[in-house]
Amino acid sequence: MIDLRYTSLAEKLHYTLHYMEDTLFDVADKVVVITGGGGALGGSMAHYLATKGCKIVVLSLHEASSAIRAEEITTAGGEAIGIAADVTSEEHLHQVKDTILKKWDRIDVLINAAGGNLPGATISPEQTVFDVSTDAIRKVLDLNLMGSVLPTLVFGKVMADQQTGSIINISSMAASQAITRVLGYSIAKAGIDMFTRWMATEMALKFGDGIRVNAIAPGFFIGKQNERLLTQEDGSLTARGETIVRNTPMKRFGEADELVGIVHYLCSDASKFVTGTIIPVDGGFSAFSGV
Ligand SMILES: NC(=O)c1ccc[n+]([C@@H]2O[C@H](COP(=O)([O-])OP(=O)(O)OC[C@H]3O[C@@H](n4cnc5c(N)ncnc54)[C@H](O)[C@@H]3O)[C@@H](O)[C@H]2O)c1
Repeated sequence: MIDLRYTSLAEKLHYTLHYMEDTLFDVADKVVVITGGGGALGGSMAHYLATKGCKIVVLSLHEASSAIRAEEITTAGGEAIGIAADVTSEEHLHQVKDTILKKWDRIDVLINAAGGNLPGATISPEQTVFDVSTDAIRKVLDLNLMGSVLPTLVFGKVMADQQTGSIINISSMAASQAITRVLGYSIAKAGIDMFTRWMATEMALKFGDGIRVNAIAPGFFIGKQNERLLTQEDGSLTARGETIVRNTPMKRFGEADELVGIVHYLCSDASKFVTGTIIPVDGGFSAFSGV
């Protein structure tokens, strides 16, 4: 093997084209746990990573959605298992960890995609913050923040023992700018951003440079949870949906498969010096002043 750092560009090109397999983006055989893998965004990531040869653990709250998603992958020739578990239960998460280690003996990637808003935690246009259900806010914080902290601690410990791994959290545009009506969700996602930076630092300082923690901040993607907030029954946009599109330079919502490229990058060695980042995938929403 020649040391490519000390060769000319021509030699480098000749060598890589003829003798070297390009492993920079290779994720084959990685064991990837996707919480919320039965949902819209996590499900799209599960399908994509299975096509790249990853072994997928679809973790969702309900038996049906995790099993269906895993079956879709195995029927298509990929490797997957579906497990129903609650991301807010440490006991469930430890059981899931034991099941995975028994089957595949390691965990390479954790994608914390379980989350979302809860109806009672949204302030309707007629209400003010003083009408909000504090109980619902607590539940949203628990699901979105603790529901990422706990899996990170349980599955991240396996990565710390292995000294390799990549953790990918899902933030939101609501983490860095005030988006009306979704108070609990916004506080939780802001917490995810800090947790991402904090864990990235802790893992690198105490367990070496093989473990990375990053977050993706999706813009607006229409899914079951926000469909009625953004679109009317006839498919036209609500006033809120119109405001969002107006403030998105690309003038549209995102498609779930537009997140998979960044997920692939964060799973692979292509991002091996990248940790503690929060990467927007938002059609320019976070860059735009609206003017
Ligand atoms: N859709 C968007 O526009 C958007 C934008 C920014 C961020 N996000 C975030 O992306 C993530 C995924 O969103 P989505 O649109 O795919 O949502 P979704 O509702 O389609 O999927 C959520 C998944 O989480 C699972 N889940 C819910 N509670 C759980 C629990 N307690 N334990 C285990 N699993 C649980 C559900 O079973 C489901 O599979 C969420 O964190 C969401 O906040 C979504």
